[in-house]
Amino acid sequence: VSTGWGVVGLGWIARDHVVPAIADDPAAHLVAVCDRDPDALAAYAATDPDTPATTDLTELLAHDGLDAVYVATPNHAHLAPVRAALAAGTAVLCEKPLAHTVDDAAAIAAAAAAPGGPLAATAFDQRFHPAHQRAATLIADGRLGEVTAVRIAYGCWLPPSWLPPHARADGTNWRVDTALAGGGAAIDLAPHGIDLVGALLGEDLTTLTAVTRRRVHPYRDPEADDSAVLAGATASGAVVAAHVSFALPDALPRRRLEIVGTRAQLVAENTLGQTAGGTLTLIDAATGAAEPVPFADESPFPRQIAAFGAAVRGEAPWPYPIARDLALHELLLDALDAAAKESPCP
Ligand SMILES: NC(=O)c1ccc[n+]([C@@H]2O[C@H](COP(=O)([O-])OP(=O)(O)OC[C@H]3O[C@@H](n4cnc5c(N)ncnc54)[C@H](O)[C@@H]3O)[C@@H](O)[C@H]2O)c1
Repeated sequence: VSTGWGVVGLGWIARDHVVPAIADDPAAHLVAVCDRDPDALAAYAATDPDTPATTDLTELLAHDGLDAVYVATPNHAHLAPVRAALAAGTAVLCEKPLAHTVDDAAAIAAAAAAPGGPLAATAFDQRFHPAHQRAATLIADGRLGEVTAVRIAYGCWLPPSWLPPHARADGTNWRVDTALAGGGAAIDLAPHGIDLVGALLGEDLTTLTAVTRRRVHPYRDPEADDSAVLAGATASGAVVAAHVSFALPDALPRRRLEIVGTRAQLVAENTLGQTAGGTLTLIDAATGAAEPVPFADESPFPRQIAAFGAAVRGEAPWPYPIARDLALHELLLDALDAAAKESPCP
């Protein structure tokens, strides 16, 4: 049995990562695609002329055999397609963050809460990176002892003129426009780490504070941050520190995850992000000896598509309820609101 997918928003993440993952999955097939921009459809058709393509969401949702819709529009444009797809009885995998505001994210979660309704989930691909899944197993097996801390560094260089792959030459950088993205670096990058803490430790952050600044980039929206630090803790007392940034030159070390325990520490380098690979190292707390931990050299995106498809077909549970994603989204946006009041970006 194969899950029939629709895609809404044919930009960077859909075209480079998710459409190929659907194409490669023997248990998935692409039914139709939708983008509001006819030029994006035309560019897509150059590589896939056979899949029906439309600018009209209603037309997409009317296709026979549509089981799931993947939504990859900019953050402010998540709610409308998610709500329409769920109302049409189709499961939804919506890109992170759930939305640019708490209100839109709450409306998504409410639309997904209808009893017996289709499955809806946030597309946090990094849950599915093989290194992170291996780390979660080692932590669950007690190899780290008591986990005391998670430390995250995740960033890139994202100047005002930055555009994602496949963007129109006259496109705007919606990622650093608060009205469209909900903020800047922090809302774009921190949700991955906040989600990963729960996926790795088996318990979520319950408290979070943030400091945000616009240090380097003269974004048109002065409220969009380019640098942030976040500090939080889980209910049982593991502390979490994250530095996320759009002002981190790409050649510098910029993707690092450390999980510190009483018996050992895990260090994952270059596993945060969209690609396969990176390294995972286990450091013994008694001796300091470091040992590489092997993991499959696979991109997280096909694994995410396979897991969501299996859940839609009722073959496996989906372990990340959208109500949980909403609670973490609220935790982050409350922290960012407080940060903006503490020091409005100049
Ligand atoms: N998981 C990850 O690692 C990751 C990486 C990049 C982006 N994302 C998320 O994916 C989403 C899309 O990001 P992107 O970088 O691919 O964006 P993008 O700007 O490359 O593409 C967005 C596409 O959506 C289209 N669009 C805009 N409004 C629309 C609407 N109302 N209906 C249909 N199409 C519409 C645009 O024409 C464009 O083709 C964002 O929510 C972003 O946060 C996730």
